[in-house]
Amino acid sequence: MTRVGQRRDTPAMPQPDARRPPEHRGGQDRRRRHHTRAPRALQSTVLGLPLLELRCGAIAAGGSTVARADDGRVVFVRHALPGELVRARVTAIATSYLRADAVEILEPSAARVQPPCAHAGPERCGGCDFQHVELGEQRRLKAALLAEQLRRLAGLDCSVLVEELPGAPNGLGWRTRVRFATDGNGRLGMRRHRSHDVEVVEQCAVATASITATGAQRAHWHPGLEVEVLAPVAATRAARAPSAEKPGAGGANALVAATSRGGRWPAVAPRLLAPATGLVADGRPIRGPGSVRTEVLGHTFRVSAGSFWQAHSHGPTVLGRAVLDGLAPQRGETVLDLFAGVGLFSVLLGSAVGAHGSVLAVERDRGACADARYNTRRLAHVEVREAHVGPALLASLGSYDLVVLDPPRQGAGAELMTALVELEPAPRRVAYVACDPASFARDLAVALRAGWSMPTLRAFDQFPMTEHVETVALLEPPGPAVPGVPRFDAPPAGRGR
Ligand SMILES: C[S@@+](CC[C@H](N)C(=O)[O-])C[C@H]1O[C@@H](n2cnc3c(N)ncnc32)[C@H](O)[C@@H]1O
Repeated sequence: MTRVGQRRDTPAMPQPDARRPPEHRGGQDRRRRHHTRAPRALQSTVLGLPLLELRCGAIAAGGSTVARADDGRVVFVRHALPGELVRARVTAIATSYLRADAVEILEPSAARVQPPCAHAGPERCGGCDFQHVELGEQRRLKAALLAEQLRRLAGLDCSVLVEELPGAPNGLGWRTRVRFATDGNGRLGMRRHRSHDVEVVEQCAVATASITATGAQRAHWHPGLEVEVLAPVAATRAARAPSAEKPGAGGANALVAATSRGGRWPAVAPRLLAPATGLVADGRPIRGPGSVRTEVLGHTFRVSAGSFWQAHSHGPTVLGRAVLDGLAPQRGETVLDLFAGVGLFSVLLGSAVGAHGSVLAVERDRGACADARYNTRRLAHVEVREAHVGPALLASLGSYDLVVLDPPRQGAGAELMTALVELEPAPRRVAYVACDPASFARDLAVALRAGWSMPTLRAFDQFPMTEHVETVALLEPPGPAVPGVPRFDAPPAGRGR
């Protein structure tokens, strides 16, 4: 668990930051990105540029290191580590920065390892940014990135620890949900970094054996498809015998959802797809059930093609426990589960508060709502509402003892956060589950400015081999200080965001 330190006395003003590639910056920079993208002709001449010799600095959001070219321009260097001296090939050029791939490591970091996946490296699979980094160092880099976003965007000095998840001690074989694309010959693979090109991948190193067992990667598809494979491993089974998952075991509880552009794919099951694997084509179940079952903390969940489910085999269990521990729900309490998906937290919290309590789950995706209703069918005090979560809706819902906020990558946003901190009476606690440190830090700043505190922040290595990290933060409204529990004060007006 992270020890939450003191807010810095003089929090940094948010400003365009050399350590954040443009796609990770806020709205102003998003607008500017359009103008800084190099014309196609200029980009192609980049290939003729000499290699740059660069000393790499810290990791930026997105997983690249930050270096400086001789002319002073920032260079975002992939496949490198802080401190390394590399030769880097420029891959994109803009007026204020360059992108480059480290193609030769002149002075390697002690944390550099041989990538375990044969598809990792410059111009190869775009899926994993940290295959070349020792696992412990991966977590330290993610902790540093998270701490940096909290410092820069929320004005907090935090000591962050990224916790390892069970089931993948070597950082491989954890993904139960993988999104592939098909190449021009209908073979399955991953998109290359910032490209539409497909790297054919017959076996994804971070996927579970249950994904491989579907046969999806050996099957013959049509060109131009998006193919999502979902093959959950029951957390309890995986926890008992994490390495006992055998090829072939996954076909019975797995599905493949293929989407074609314009719905023109003649939906026949491709050869070599495992017979028990369900197939959904352009939203229509073609073969087998259109959903899978998985178990979390003693509860069984149905997840249909297209509904959100955490990708790590142990993610739902670990996050479920973290939310339960943080919120400490009491019998009879009322809960609001925003961005509820198929009802992961609604089921766990609904069971915890009991029939004298209540849960309202809000989710906008119709299929996920149907799953959530099915998953909560034995909990009459849990209501699932299909709606768009926004400030007006939140303000209309009245007050709740506990709130879960688990928004997509772009975060809740300032307006929703403002509506949340203005709820009257305020919730006893809020659990904010986040997969993007920058949007989380921006949202957190809104709560801190309103006098809320963050007693705990936990960070989880839910995505080994990538730069991504999941956090569960506990937020509390202003109130009398509790001895021994650190509190943050709001950043002074005009500081932070
Ligand atoms: C990160 S997922 C979390 C799901 C769930 N809490 C879980 O852990 O399985 C975010 C969910 O929010 C939903 N969503 C995204 N934007 C939304 C909005 N504005 N209103 C309601 N739901 C939204 C998505 O469909 C998705 O199911």
